[in-house]
Amino acid sequence: MSKVPPYPRIRKAVFPVAGLGTRFLPATKTVPKEMLPIVDRPLIQYAVDEAIDAGCDTLIFVTNRYKHAVADYFDKAYELEQKLERAGKHEKLELVRHVLPSGVRAVFVTQPEAKGLGHAVLCAKPVVGNEPFAVLLPDDLIWNRGPGALRQMADAAASSGASMIAVQDVPQEQTGSYGIVATEDFADRQGRITAMVEKPAPADAPSTLAVVGRYVLNPRIFDLLETTAPGTGGEIQLTDAISTLLREEAVNAYRFKGTRFDCGTHLGLIEATIRYALDHEKLSEAAARMMQDALYELGVREIQ
Ligand code: UTP
Repeated sequence: MSKVPPYPRIRKAVFPVAGLGTRFLPATKTVPKEMLPIVDRPLIQYAVDEAIDAGCDTLIFVTNRYKHAVADYFDKAYELEQKLERAGKHEKLELVRHVLPSGVRAVFVTQPEAKGLGHAVLCAKPVVGNEPFAVLLPDDLIWNRGPGALRQMADAAASSGASMIAVQDVPQEQTGSYGIVATEDFADRQGRITAMVEKPAPADAPSTLAVVGRYVLNPRIFDLLETTAPGTGGEIQLTDAISTLLREEAVNAYRFKGTRFDCGTHLGLIEATIRYALDHEKLSEAAARMMQDALYELGVREIQ
């Protein structure tokens, strides 16, 4: 008889994309941060592919009324498809048609006001219901050659029964930019979280293990979010609700395999673009040459 996992496998993934994206102004005046491209695909597509790779078939986008571009991207583009078909551009047609594979559905939920990440996740409650689910922040882009970070976490959650939060080590001086966790000892890439602090000063940080934008959460988090008061920045923080959850049940930090780029910052977006260009089957050689030339020119200028 096959073994029944103690935790149902996740099928639903929430993408909170209703933030204002102020760090990328003026571009984000009209282009949502999640639609900024890395080579030829928007950030949201990388996150969606990772969720599908983890076994999710229901993708819930928490948007605001200005973010039509995200919904439009996943909608059918009749005119464009007709034009590509008539022009015989079949390869391009396939790219446009397959932003979502068949069998995967996209659901859009509105967050009426940007009241914080925790509030955005709570907006997805009516669609998620009473089952474990994933949260992915598309501006955290995770690159690797094997199974995606969320798949690694979903596998771990299914066998351990605990909620999972992705973490990675950051330099001590950067703790003030992250949620930081204290944990018990790690085994199999997991360590039970004992405390979680939002953006602590380096001197107050309980560790250098920073939360990255991938979560597998028990639906109990919704009840806790409903009673979470606004925290840092007057926003309802997901971190605060998780801090309460981990006093009730196991919430594990998960050290994923992969490289994470913080595409919510200028340098992170540039770094990701370089890495993906250098890894691209058609562009890599030309991109490497271009980078070498640019660095050479910079060197020459510095010597002069
Ligand atoms: P960020 O802290 O990166 O905020 O949100 P932001 O507004 O997107 O960007 P900056 O800091 O102004 O440049 C983390 C994630 O939470 C979502 C964001 O869209 C992002 O994916 N979020 C944040 C919401 O969906 N709603 C909110 O009210 C706040």
